Amino acid sequence: MKGIILAGGLGSRLRPLTLVTNKHLLPVYDRPMIYYPIQCLLNAGIRDIIIVTGGEHAGDFLKLLKNGKHLGVKHLEYAYQEGEGGIADALKLAEEFADRDKVCVVLGDNIIEGNIRRAAGDFFTQRSGAKLLLKEVPDPERFGVARLDSPGRDARIVEIVEKPKQPASNLAVTGIYFYDSDVFEMCKDLKPSARGELEITDVNNAYMRRGDLTFEVLDGWWTDAGTVESLFRAASLVARGGANHTGTPAPNEGSLFVAKA
Ligand code: DAU
Repeated sequence: MKGIILAGGLGSRLRPLTLVTNKHLLPVYDRPMIYYPIQCLLNAGIRDIIIVTGGEHAGDFLKLLKNGKHLGVKHLEYAYQEGEGGIADALKLAEEFADRDKVCVVLGDNIIEGNIRRAAGDFFTQRSGAKLLLKEVPDPERFGVARLDSPGRDARIVEIVEKPKQPASNLAVTGIYFYDSDVFEMCKDLKPSARGELEITDVNNAYMRRGDLTFEVLDGWWTDAGTVESLFRAASLVARGGANHTGTPAPNEGSLFVAKA
């Protein structure tokens, strides 16, 4: 399975911080934001990674990450997204890299406490389709929100609504997605949403309609870091010892932090 980190977009909700750098290079506690999704993939055993970025500061990723070897990445590629056409628009750029493998897509501003290794293993054995990771949140209206058909263990997702005014549940769709190779054809069929973007929620609903969508609820905390409030919260959560971070030195050189089981 290959790893895709989406780190494009203009970071307009973080201006003026993002006027002179890319959002994903901003610090979250003691390291650049982009280190966290990289670590998330490495912890799942995924070492073949592409970063899709864009904007004026894209070259700074290369300065920071180089070929990724010093971080434990086996193979690191970059792609450049023109403009801010949405998450599914950025994902399209990874088609050649994926080369018909299954992929794990991580949004560049998503940070988790735990480890997705088990979910990745489950998806590896899933014959086809997609898998989402959900998380209970107090403010679901900020996210894609999943409606389930029942509260039990065999529940299935019956609808995902992007930033609903009246959320059907408190289960946010996190920015960690597993897809089979059909995802790229599905992205090509999308039409821009009211906010002018190709929405990943439309892709997920298409898998749901095919009856080929599974989910797991993420253990440990999860946050995005794309607003001033969530960037601050992310740094506080990491500082308290999460994100596989406890007691490990900042990865100036050498590897990233040690994976928590
Ligand atoms: O964080 C999880 C949420 O992320 C999901 O619950 C939503 O369903 C999903 O749409 C997304 O919502 P946001 O509105 O928070 O996404 P945002 O525009 O902040 O973009 C998140 C990341 O995706 C960003 O850090 C980089 C990447 N991205 C985004 C856009 C719009 C790109 O690579 N290119 C883009 O054009």
